[in-house]
Amino acid sequence: MNAPAGGLSPALTPEAVADTTAMATETHILNPRFYTTDFDELDRVDVTPVRKDWDALIAEMKADPNKAHFKKTEAWDRIDWDGMDPALRVEFIDFLVSSCTAEFSGCVLYKEMKRRGSNPDIRELFNYMARDEARHAGFINDALREAGVAVNLGFLTKAKKYTYFRPKFIYYATYLSEKIGYARYITIYRHLEANPEHRFHPIFKWFKEWCNDEFRHGEAFALLMKTDPKLTDTTVNRLWIRFFLTAVYSTMWVRDHARPEFHKALGVDIDWYDQEVYRKTSEIARQIFPVELDIDHPRWKPALRRMNEAFLRIDRGTRRGGIAGRLEKALGGAQALAAFVSLYTIPVRTHTLPENVRLEPSY
Ligand SMILES: [Fe+2]
Ligand SMILES: [Fe+2]
Repeated sequence: MNAPAGGLSPALTPEAVADTTAMATETHILNPRFYTTDFDELDRVDVTPVRKDWDALIAEMKADPNKAHFKKTEAWDRIDWDGMDPALRVEFIDFLVSSCTAEFSGCVLYKEMKRRGSNPDIRELFNYMARDEARHAGFINDALREAGVAVNLGFLTKAKKYTYFRPKFIYYATYLSEKIGYARYITIYRHLEANPEHRFHPIFKWFKEWCNDEFRHGEAFALLMKTDPKLTDTTVNRLWIRFFLTAVYSTMWVRDHARPEFHKALGVDIDWYDQEVYRKTSEIARQIFPVELDIDHPRWKPALRRMNEAFLRIDRGTRRGGIAGRLEKALGGAQALAAFVSLYTIPVRTHTLPENVRLEPSY
């Protein structure tokens, strides 16, 4: 799920962007990852405590409201990729590759869950979610194909490193990434609806129905967590939730700030956009997370800015190489850790969880 101007992927030059499969395969702390988990443990989940909501959600997925959505129509305007400002082109391709990788990473994980599982509830859910993510990744890849730089997804499945997460960490991380995905897509969509002159590519017109898929996927993970109150009740798990919130939010900040030209073209102030996405995500996450980060705390934005500087420094060190480069990277790493601690220790807001977990998309 990065960019020039001292960005995240040191290799992000016009030449490197031509090799999008290599970009997607690269393992970098800020790139989208592929996950694997303890599939047997996940398979043992019993959804009986949330049966009514579960059946309703599965029925919605089965009805497949977006079946015909991910097809190009006459609304898909032709894009002059060669005439696009080169800096914007590099960042936009990076954005598409990283989005495509993130979508496809969901597809791979969900498909594997369906393949390995024997629990009919779990298999049915992951089957529908894999279907959706395959469509999402394929649709983005179509856009990349027009630029002559599609990602080889078959190769990616084999070549990309997989990160192991216990099922509960998959719940926290994937729940969050689905809800953030929803918040990101809908925020861009609403912004461009009000400011259509900034819609420099037709793919943004598809974001509204698209984000409803992500919303539903997030609902599924909320229900999975709801089956076991320990996942959100114990002190240790609350600290883990706080950890994932901090890690996911700060990663998003650094990634987005590495794409200044992309956001300029969209007419979006990155600080505003990120805060807006956090706000929506945090509000939604009250359905299942008993803790919420205080994104209005005076330490919040300054620490995020320091985190960004730290990553720019690490990036400079990587490009420089040698002993001086290694030192620069080490200093950057220490700075990033300090910024993370500063963010993690901001007092959180706490809630009692609502009895009824289900939500509808409302932005
Ligand atoms: Fe998706
Ligand atoms: Fe999703």
